[in-house]
Amino acid sequence: MPAVIQIDGLRKTFTGVRRGRRVALDGFDMLVEPGQVHGFLGPNGSGKTTTLRTLLGLVQADSGRMALFGEPAPQRLPAVVGRLGAIVESPQFFGNFSGRRTLRLLAVAGGVPPARVDEVLEQVGLRDRADERVKGYSLGMKQRLAVASALLKRPELLILDEPANGLDPAGIREMRDLMRGLAAAGVTVLVSSHILAEIQQICDHVTIISRGRRVAAGPVDAVLAGFDHREFRIRVADQTRAAEIIASAGLPVTTHADHLVVADLDDPARLSQALGEQGVWLRELTPLTPDLESVFLELTDTRPRPGVPRQVDDSVRPDRPADESQITLGADDGLQITVSADDERAQP
Ligand SMILES: Nc1ncnc2c1ncn2[C@@H]1O[C@H](COP(=O)(O)OP(=O)(O)O)[C@@H](O)[C@H]1O
Ligand SMILES: [Mg+2]
Repeated sequence: MPAVIQIDGLRKTFTGVRRGRRVALDGFDMLVEPGQVHGFLGPNGSGKTTTLRTLLGLVQADSGRMALFGEPAPQRLPAVVGRLGAIVESPQFFGNFSGRRTLRLLAVAGGVPPARVDEVLEQVGLRDRADERVKGYSLGMKQRLAVASALLKRPELLILDEPANGLDPAGIREMRDLMRGLAAAGVTVLVSSHILAEIQQICDHVTIISRGRRVAAGPVDAVLAGFDHREFRIRVADQTRAAEIIASAGLPVTTHADHLVVADLDDPARLSQALGEQGVWLRELTPLTPDLESVFLELTDTRPRPGVPRQVDDSVRPDRPADESQITLGADDGLQITVSADDERAQP
């Protein structure tokens, strides 16, 4: 079976009259196989939305190769667009229509039976508010409506760009359950996020992007294991003496306010023996297994530095400050996509 999404060496530089050149994608690669719940993780401005917009033919790449269900994208997009649903950036709807009317119109446009509208309304939890006007919806309700529109066609692939934005904790959990349910039903899900917990909780695979490049990819467990430095946190009564003993046993040790961290430790017995022989007794010995958050901070170089507020473009090297105006592209084929205005339009 071909990969659901394959991206090789994707490059995109935005050139604007006001902003100069900005490299958004710098040779980016991605592989999403059927059945995966694939997390697309990266800090703000790292190139996630640009990747998804390029994949969907909303932005033209400078170079690189992309395929959806084995068909070259964007050239063969019309052949596969019926098999995918996508929400890229904050969805926009006509405020005077109700949620139900919005979905009915999209269903008609996409050749979907009207009965499907009630199913998706139920699925995203909007059943009881479906007849109210969209302009009275909260951000989270609009987000749900967007997901409902993407589900109308029973897509094999669902692409969600930062779906947790604007949702309350219950909404985030429901979105998570929804994604799990879809995955269980065999839908491949690609979900972008800058929020670690989200990815770690629902995704089995992950691609991490930083400054327009893939910096890690694979099963979440494997990516994490690659960052396991076999570290242990220890607490003892006399830290200074313990640090000396550990260092002379040839183990890397770092001193913190109330504990030590020992790295490269294959067998903790070695440590307790070295300390015990010198009359120093362990009060705590805890393995420090890496979580996605620390891996993410390490890989994307966005670890907070005390006293130095990190600027949003620290991860992309700024030319000029960003200022994005929003436009909505058409919803043909029932595919609702909202994108930012492309700088290239402004070019002479
Ligand atoms: N239409 C555009 N014109 C100019 N620069 C853009 C445009 N869209 C995105 N960029 C820039 O490309 C970089 C990547 O942006 P984006 O893909 O939106 O990041 P993410 O979705 O990961 O937060 C950012 O520096 C952003 O300012
Ligand atoms: Mg984005």
